[in-house]
Amino acid sequence: MEKIAGFDDWKDLFYKWQRDIGFEPALVKDYKFDAFYDEGTGPDIEFGDYKGRRKFAKLLDVPTQDMRDALLHLIFYQGDTEFGSSEQQRKLIDTAPSDYDRQCLLRVMREEQRHGWQMCHVLINNFGDSGKLEARKLLERRAYEGTRLLGAFNKPVENFIDFVTYTCFIDRDGKYQLTMLHHSSFAPLSRSMGPMLKEEAFHLFTGQTGLSRIVKAGKVPVEILQKYLNKWLSTGYDLFGKDHSSAAARFYRWGFKGRFDEAIAKELPKDLERLNEEARNLYYKEDCEIIESLNRSIPEGKPKLRAPDMKFNRQIGDYADKRYTVDGLDANALTEAEYQAHLAQVLPGPEDQKILEPILKTSNWMSSSNN
Ligand SMILES: [Fe+2]
Ligand SMILES: [Fe+2]
Repeated sequence: MEKIAGFDDWKDLFYKWQRDIGFEPALVKDYKFDAFYDEGTGPDIEFGDYKGRRKFAKLLDVPTQDMRDALLHLIFYQGDTEFGSSEQQRKLIDTAPSDYDRQCLLRVMREEQRHGWQMCHVLINNFGDSGKLEARKLLERRAYEGTRLLGAFNKPVENFIDFVTYTCFIDRDGKYQLTMLHHSSFAPLSRSMGPMLKEEAFHLFTGQTGLSRIVKAGKVPVEILQKYLNKWLSTGYDLFGKDHSSAAARFYRWGFKGRFDEAIAKELPKDLERLNEEARNLYYKEDCEIIESLNRSIPEGKPKLRAPDMKFNRQIGDYADKRYTVDGLDANALTEAEYQAHLAQVLPGPEDQKILEPILKTSNWMSSSNN
């Protein structure tokens, strides 16, 4: 890809990227991609070593090179997830169960693209040549080639069950990340988050109502839906990062990334290296509440949905690459083959696809969107 001089050059690359992933611009009709900034959470730094000072308005206000490098990193990682998700969802455009669902999908995709656009706007306008380079690289990686930066954004999204589970639980991780960045000491980042969070709310709505409509229709076996929950929630747990994280501690001390409940937290964090773990625990609790509400639509006597144990199928953190069953039982004594057999039983696979195929071809496997 060619070098870019400024944001206009980057826009050309963005429109090429859209075509390359199969997202024809005509799909969003006259929607105009744009960067939006609001006031953020206020003018002053709210926590960490620089608390009480003015937020950093530009990169040179950020005191050290270490801090500037970390900030760049934080922003392009966020941007990478935004473009990755559209690449994951690109195959679904022609398989939506109804026109309503297709419109929801297209809206989610264009808003994720706008989030990526926003992060590139921050990179290009604040980070000089390194910002331009990273903004360009954000359009060069591809989820379906496995080159997105976080594993979650390289996983296959094959059908609309994937889509609604993803928007319910992976976009929920997005809500956590954006909320934590909303309090950022770097003003352009903090000021980007309000509009993004508003859009994110629609993604969560699409996911949760989508799952609820699947449960209400009663056509997709609950046991299979459970496998999709196992797939995406375990992925969502990973997205919070390592349990012990010196990077999270630094981000907090530098004011770049707050806690999810920073706005209402009454006490200072007890252990800065445990911030990822704390956020993950809040996320898990919220997931459980959503699953509880889905279960209210499952008739008595039928199996209920549940969140997979937080130790299950983890690639990041204290439980990475250790063997635990979906219920959290220590499976380290199992042989590799036995463990793989357990995974095949509890994660969606070819057998499930076979069962789902005729169901997903019918028109009523998700209940109508108005009830
Ligand atoms: Fe997003
Ligand atoms: Fe989203």
